[in-house]
Amino acid sequence: MAAATSQGSRYQVRGGAALTGSVRISGSANAALAAMCAALLTDEPVVLDNVPAVSDVDSLANLLAHLGATVERPAPNRVAINAAKVGTLEAPIDLVSENRASFQVMGPLLARHGFAALPPPGGDVIGQRPIAVHLDGFGAMGATIDRVGEHYQARAPRGLTGTRVFADYPSVSGTQNVMLAATLARGETVIVNAATEPEVQALAALLNAMGGRVSGAGTQTVTVEGVERLHGTTFALVPDRIEAGTFAIAAAMTGGDVDLVDAPAGVMDAIITKLRGAGATVEARDGALRVAAGTRLAPVGFQALPYPGLATDLHAPMAALLTQADGVSIIHERVFDNRMLYVAELRKMGAEIISTGSSAIINGPTPLHGARARALDVRAGAAVLLAGLVASGTTVIDDLHHLDRKYERLDEKLRGLGAELERV
Ligand code: EPU
Repeated sequence: MAAATSQGSRYQVRGGAALTGSVRISGSANAALAAMCAALLTDEPVVLDNVPAVSDVDSLANLLAHLGATVERPAPNRVAINAAKVGTLEAPIDLVSENRASFQVMGPLLARHGFAALPPPGGDVIGQRPIAVHLDGFGAMGATIDRVGEHYQARAPRGLTGTRVFADYPSVSGTQNVMLAATLARGETVIVNAATEPEVQALAALLNAMGGRVSGAGTQTVTVEGVERLHGTTFALVPDRIEAGTFAIAAAMTGGDVDLVDAPAGVMDAIITKLRGAGATVEARDGALRVAAGTRLAPVGFQALPYPGLATDLHAPMAALLTQADGVSIIHERVFDNRMLYVAELRKMGAEIISTGSSAIINGPTPLHGARARALDVRAGAAVLLAGLVASGTTVIDDLHHLDRKYERLDEKLRGLGAELERV
């Protein structure tokens, strides 16, 4: 498969341009990752369209290939997976550590092959990120889980049995993993306290297109009626609500006026409401979401929460915007315990932010100046990039590999809207 990213490991951004024009929102990166894992549930081809060319997709593709699946990319945003010949049921740490979603191969492997051995998953260092919801769910369905060295070994030689599974926390990937396993279990699985995120709904839609029987996705109770086998399908992924939110924030923050083509406005209530509160105009127009800056940015408080609350993945980008708002904004992070990595980077650029554990107080507006900063996780990196778009002078952002994990052609898209930046 072709690699997703172009050359260059840092961005050089010259601030000052108001973003204008239109940008097409890519398919959802996180929905794509769960969908790729679902392809392991059948021996028939699963063809996914609108898959963003991002490096997390590449690394998960490498893991699927290691397991024995064929993964092809016949077009830039199409991934075709055939898991007929999967024969390896364990993975080394280097294939799992790059990507949180890699642990979602466990549900399908366990359900279809009765065994899986995986080390704990990697991903952004944004909090403790336990996997108890995944493992407890498999255990409730009859699997035995052992920790052997660095691997979790899950065994269900006689198959999984449907049951009631209570999720301690509405974990997105935990809900998805249990759903994946339950599709081929005997009988009915009911997931209580399920995550309601749109990416859970997207996975349910794919599983049903493969012949699964999943209902209730999008509510806190998901029911999965197990079936004997699943079949292949061709399926287009939903647009990426976090990418859309990031561009919406960029438009409002730079004094711009941008049409977000294909933005999934129906699942963006929280960010739309907050941007309007900050003074931007947000309206549906000709199949796009138009975001235009107002005359002044007003401060807004928010809490990052599970869906439909404001997404934790938009916390850092929104904080960057609020450095330009006229007054004090207070932010509370309620999902992850280490989402504040952006604070020190924005302070290097002149932002007035105080962070107290899971809260931040931002005093604006502060003129930002170019600095050398790091993308410490994907969304912290987005925050620094947005700050660079309004800073005086040049901002150099290191560690772009984080941004490449989830944002497709980010520099190209921003240049298309008039931003001055390049990879160097
Ligand atoms: N949690 C538990 N127990 C568990 C699992 C999770 O308490 O067994 C807690 C975590 O400690 C955390 C919270 O649940 O406080 C949320 O974690 P969750 O498991 O829901 O997150 P995830 O599935 O690991 C996905 C996205 C993240 C996104 C979160 C929340 C993927 C691959 N990742 O992560 O996306 O922030 O849901 O919406 O789907 C990103 O795109 O930048 C990103 C990090």
